[in-house]
Amino acid sequence: MIEHNISLKPYNTFGIDVKAKSFGRFDSIDGLKSLLANRDPETPLFILGGGSNVLLTRDLPFFVMKNEISGIEAVNETETSIVLKVGSGVEWHSFVRYTVEKGWGGIENMSLIPGSVGASPMQNIGAYGSEIKDSFVSLEALHIDSLELHTFNKEQCQFGYRESVFKRALKDQYVIVSVSYELLKHPKMNTTYGAIQSEIEVMGVEDITVDTVSQAVMNIRRSKLPDPKELGNAGSFFKNPVVSKSDFEKIATNYPDAPHYPQESGEEKLAAGWMIEKAGWKGKRIGNCGVHEKQALVLVNYGGSTGQEIFDLSTMIIEDIRSKFGVTLEREVNIL
Ligand code: FAD
Ligand code: EPU
Repeated sequence: MIEHNISLKPYNTFGIDVKAKSFGRFDSIDGLKSLLANRDPETPLFILGGGSNVLLTRDLPFFVMKNEISGIEAVNETETSIVLKVGSGVEWHSFVRYTVEKGWGGIENMSLIPGSVGASPMQNIGAYGSEIKDSFVSLEALHIDSLELHTFNKEQCQFGYRESVFKRALKDQYVIVSVSYELLKHPKMNTTYGAIQSEIEVMGVEDITVDTVSQAVMNIRRSKLPDPKELGNAGSFFKNPVVSKSDFEKIATNYPDAPHYPQESGEEKLAAGWMIEKAGWKGKRIGNCGVHEKQALVLVNYGGSTGQEIFDLSTMIIEDIRSKFGVTLEREVNIL
């Protein structure tokens, strides 16, 4: 069924109240094909998962297609690993907990990231020392114009930090319908991210399992990231900027305490949250939106904010950081 003039407020974690020109749901590849075949060809499409990485700044003159493809299926299993093919509409965190409860390792550090499995490769989601590219096997995606199903391996996805080919060369051309991940049966836990070690110590657990790591990550996230059910947000609003070694050295001369992470390329990744805090924005409120008081990388809707107000706040932050640090922040959230 295709509905018209539908409020998208329940479908985006910023809680922005704008309308979609038309709205439909699909829970299978056939359902998706039928929606695509019967659509108004003049109306552009927008594929919606959990709406946790979008900022809606206006009524959308689009056909919004909500993905509800479910199912988790084992497609290959050995002594050491199992490959699961997951419907793209499955909630990412439920999938993580499914694997953790089986004792399988690989994605536990990404516990509690909101959104759908289908969006996980879009920006190669990551947290606490892991990215999906490390467990990713392949994905299936329907080509919107030809309605053909194509398989993409890891190399073809061109994953980078919060990047993939689907945000660049193949933007708006495919609907991801399933993603296959390989989980390890005898996993080696990744607790190198400082906060995980200290949280496990606080938890007082000695036998560290994938569930211990998952619980530690959930505890850390709950302590500083706002729950979208209580305070509208889309996680980190900006990417952490990656700069050349020489640009980093200039910044470090003025700010010797700036957190930084050396990259394989020889470049340095800076912590945008630290810069935004240093520039005095943390906890600042402008009208109905603001910068989260516990995590300066997260912009929040206190209720009733428009997407445009949040976008304008992000522009002010970008300009201020550019003037203070000489670094241009890039928005991580998809702006519509
Ligand atoms: P949506 O917001 O619905 O869509 C995002 C983009 O992907 C859109 O352009 C959409 O068109 C496209 N898309 C979605 N599904 C498909 C599909 N099946 N086929 C084709 N295109 C599709 N992200 C991280 O990486 N790490 C974090 O730690 C993290 N923490 C967060 C914490 C909070 C509190 C919140 C609110 C967000 C956080 N995020 C994080 C961002 C967000 O959770 C991820 O980007 C997530 O993958 C978005 O999934 P979604 O289903 O909500 O995507
Ligand atoms: N920091 C501050 N002040 C702040 C926020 C951060 O000084 O207000 C400092 C911290 O003290 C730390 C550094 O900045 O030294 C990094 O902070 P944190 O570990 O909280 O991570 P982040 O860089 O702010 C990134 C991801 C998150 C992910 C976490 C954990 C990006 C854009 N963000 O945040 O992803 O959950 O690391 O791995 O890479 C998301 O993408 O939506 C997201 C939440």
